[in-house]
Amino acid sequence: FEIREPENEPYLSFAPGTPERDELRAEIDRLKNMEVEIPAIIGGKEVKTDHQQDVVMPHNHQHKLATVHLCGEEEVQMAIDASLEARQKWADLPWEERASIFLKAADLVAGPYRNTMNASTMLGQSKTPHQADIEAAGEFADFLRFNAYYLQEIYRDQPYSPDGMWNRMEYRPLEGFIFAVTPFNFTAIAGNLPLAPALCGNVALWKPATSSVYSSYYIMKILKEAGMPDGVINFLPGEGADVGDPVIQNEHLAGLHFTGSTGTFQHLWKSIAENIETYNTYPRIVGETGGKDFIFAHHSADVDALVIAAIRAAYEYQGQKCSAASRMYIPKSIWPEFEEKFLDEVKDVKYGDIEDFSNFMGAVIDQNAFDNISSYIDYVKESDDGEILFGGNYDDSEGYFIEPTLVLAKDPHFKTMEEEIFGPVLTVYVYEDEDFEETLELCDTTSPYALTGAIFSQDRYALKQMADYLRQAAGNFYINDKPTAAIVNQQPFGGARKSGTNDKAGSAANLMRWLSVRSIKETT
Ligand code: ALA
Repeated sequence: FEIREPENEPYLSFAPGTPERDELRAEIDRLKNMEVEIPAIIGGKEVKTDHQQDVVMPHNHQHKLATVHLCGEEEVQMAIDASLEARQKWADLPWEERASIFLKAADLVAGPYRNTMNASTMLGQSKTPHQADIEAAGEFADFLRFNAYYLQEIYRDQPYSPDGMWNRMEYRPLEGFIFAVTPFNFTAIAGNLPLAPALCGNVALWKPATSSVYSSYYIMKILKEAGMPDGVINFLPGEGADVGDPVIQNEHLAGLHFTGSTGTFQHLWKSIAENIETYNTYPRIVGETGGKDFIFAHHSADVDALVIAAIRAAYEYQGQKCSAASRMYIPKSIWPEFEEKFLDEVKDVKYGDIEDFSNFMGAVIDQNAFDNISSYIDYVKESDDGEILFGGNYDDSEGYFIEPTLVLAKDPHFKTMEEEIFGPVLTVYVYEDEDFEETLELCDTTSPYALTGAIFSQDRYALKQMADYLRQAAGNFYINDKPTAAIVNQQPFGGARKSGTNDKAGSAANLMRWLSVRSIKETT
């Protein structure tokens, strides 16, 4: 058994006249007309609770897609028991058998379930066909395949053995269960957080975001079809504390794999610290949180490339990628050209119903997001230090729609230059060309985050200077390209500072966090 190095799953175009376009539309219609009940899944069994919530479409919140059953302490305890019961058998399974399940799941995601993954992500999370396909199908299949390949490489990494000795490293799963807490914005990341540890032989409790539980539920169906044994991944939809508190208090917690807000991650970390004497081990904590991602232009930047990068990075998926650009630094000498070209392009950016495939943007995820983002827009409207150059409209009467918005900040410390908004709001600060180095320093120190960033210049010396100044400012750094859409095995993803523990998703380094090595010396 040998896993050859995979290739990235190619994306579909969905261009008019292509069969994939018609198939996706048919799947959207099928799902929309079928109301689903989403239970918890514990030890392979569907568990219904007496606490339920409607799942609606962000672009039309009157349309109900599903009812989700929310879990509490009782279901958490059942899931811990089920996971511990499944643990030994799963850990003892030859790794090739575990990997085979992942490779089968990847083929299901990229093949027969591709339309379901894309349609459920579009309807439940308001993604366009392209934004859904690059991750719910493409990136998810990549995570499954490449992680299996990385695990093989890890197992092969063995120490030196002099004559008369056989030294080896045994890569064991952690003792206990992993708690995976997943975000709404990427179906692939949601799937990867419980799955990466599981591939290494761990068992997991998975708390999906309630706002994206619809696509997450289909992941559970795919895993079952791929042969995932009962109890390895236990699916626990629910409110944060209802699920989180009893999990964190359990002695068998061996790890937290988290993507979401900085506040929640810090709360979980503190709760783990408070309970540290309870646990049998020191839980591994891996988290990816917020960002205030930047684009920094030098006066030699290619303005056309800069405009396209800014629009794509700030507005694709409504700016709700943790990697989305939300602050920009442009020198005065190229600002007039940039402004003119940007305004000319952005006026053609269509937003609205994602079922109309010609839209570039859909709705933001829910009422809370809508209220939060629109409050920032209102702040700019009322401020003397910021000006809306484009957009600024919003409307939640039918769906949670926010117009792509460009803000000009007079002050580099203006609120929308500093705070994470997680919506389609890009703020630009225009700097004096001679203040290039000071502005680089400003870019580095303005935000507590360090997730993604991009620099634009056609001058190699300037690029070097920018990359050096901004060495710590981003875990994913882009030169003359937009700071979004990292690809598994090409740009391992994650940031440091307040953005997370930088245990690169989609890399062997991430898998190592879910393994505990036994070093063995045998005298021969
Ligand atoms: N991996 C996602 C991106 O790079 C977050 O946009």
